[in-house]
Amino acid sequence: MTGGEKAGRIALCYGTRPQVIKASAVRRALAARHQVLAVDTGQHYDFALNELLYQQLGVAPPDCFLGTGSGSHATQTAAVMVRCEALLTEQRPQAVVVIGDTNSTLGSALAAAKLRIPVVHVEAGLAAADYLMAEELNRRATDAIARVLCTPSARATARMRAAHADATVVETGDVALDVLQAQLDRLPAVTHLRPPDGRPYVYATLHRAELTDDVALLRNVLATLSTLEHSVILAMHPRTRAALEASGPAVESNGGLTVVPAVGYLESLALAHGATAVVTDSGGVQREAYWLGVPCVTLRRETEWEETLELGANRLLAPDQAPDLLQARLADAVAAAPWDRSAYGRGDAATRIAQAATLLAGEGNG
Ligand code: UD1
Repeated sequence: MTGGEKAGRIALCYGTRPQVIKASAVRRALAARHQVLAVDTGQHYDFALNELLYQQLGVAPPDCFLGTGSGSHATQTAAVMVRCEALLTEQRPQAVVVIGDTNSTLGSALAAAKLRIPVVHVEAGLAAADYLMAEELNRRATDAIARVLCTPSARATARMRAAHADATVVETGDVALDVLQAQLDRLPAVTHLRPPDGRPYVYATLHRAELTDDVALLRNVLATLSTLEHSVILAMHPRTRAALEASGPAVESNGGLTVVPAVGYLESLALAHGATAVVTDSGGVQREAYWLGVPCVTLRRETEWEETLELGANRLLAPDQAPDLLQARLADAVAAAPWDRSAYGRGDAATRIAQAATLLAGEGNG
C-alpha cells in the first residue's frame, strides 16, 4: 500500500456498549489501511450505551445500523445473523472483525463464516469455568470459527495455541487499554456525580444476568452497598433498572448509596479514577480499575481477567456470600495497591489487530 491507496474492504461488527468503545480504536487503525464497513448491530440502543459513546470518542456514525435491539438470546443472535448475512452478501468484505463475547459477536461471526468470509476475533482466548454462561458460549463458539485470534494476554495466547492449532494467534494486548490511554487527559470533573466536599467514595456498576435474573439477590446486594462505610455511587445499567422495576419498587438513592443512570464512557472512567475502590461485575470496569491503580472487588464467583486477581488488583466476592464480607474485601483490596499494570499489553493493540486483519484479507484473495 502506498500513496494513500487502501487495501480491500474489511467489515467491523459490534453492538454493545463495551464493543462500541473498543471498536472506536479498531476502526481507526483499520481505516489507516482499508476501506472499513462499520456495522453496529443495535443490540444496545439506549443513548448512554450507544450514541453518547460515538460522540465522546469522536467516532463517525456506523456505515450500517442493523437495529436488532433486545430479545431472548436466540431471538437476538438470530436477528444479528439474518441482518448481517444480508449485508455481508451485498457488500462482500474480505474479512470480518468481531469483538468480545456478546450475542452480536457470535451472530456476526457465524453469518460471516457461513458466507466463507474469514473472521478475526478480538479479545480471543478468555475463559470462564461456567461454560453454559451466555458469554462463555458466545466466546467459545466464536474462537472456534475465527481464522485469526487476537488475544489480550499471554495466558489467552497459550490457551488459543493449545486449542486452535489451525488458526493464527496474535497476541495484540487489550484494545480497551488503547482507548483508555487516549482519553485519560480528557476526563471530566464529574463533580455533579461525586459526593460533596471531596469525600471518598466507592464507584459501583452491576448489570450481569447472574444478578439481574435473581432480583432478590440483586436487592440484597444493593442493600449491602447502602450500608458500607464509604459513600457509594452506583451507575445503574438499564438492564438492572428494568429488572428492579419489573419486580417491585425501584431502588433510589438511600443511606450512603447514590444511584445515577448509566453514565458515558468518560464519566465512568472519571468516577473510577477518583474512587477509593470499585465494586463491579463488569469485565471492562475491572480492567479499567486495574490500569488506573484503583482496587476492585468483583461481585462474581469467577473472572475471565485472572491476572488482575493474581497481581492483587482485584478480589472476588460471590454476590450470595455474607454481605459483611464486602466491607472486609474492600479493606483487603485497598491495602494491596500498587501492582504491576502490564498484563494486557502496552496500549497498541488496535494497530496489531489491523495488521493481522490485513494479512487475513490478503489471504482471502487467494
Ligand atoms: C450484553 C452482553 C454482555 C455485556 C453487556 C455490556 C450478551 C449475551 N451480553 O449484556 O456480555 O457485558 O452487554 O453492557 O450479549 N437494555 C436496555 N437498553 C439497551 C440495552 C439493553 O434497556 O440499550 C435492557 C433491556 O431490558 C434488555 C436487557 O437490557 O432486554 C438486556 O440487554 P442485552 O443486550 O441482551 O444484554 P446486556 O445485559 O446488556
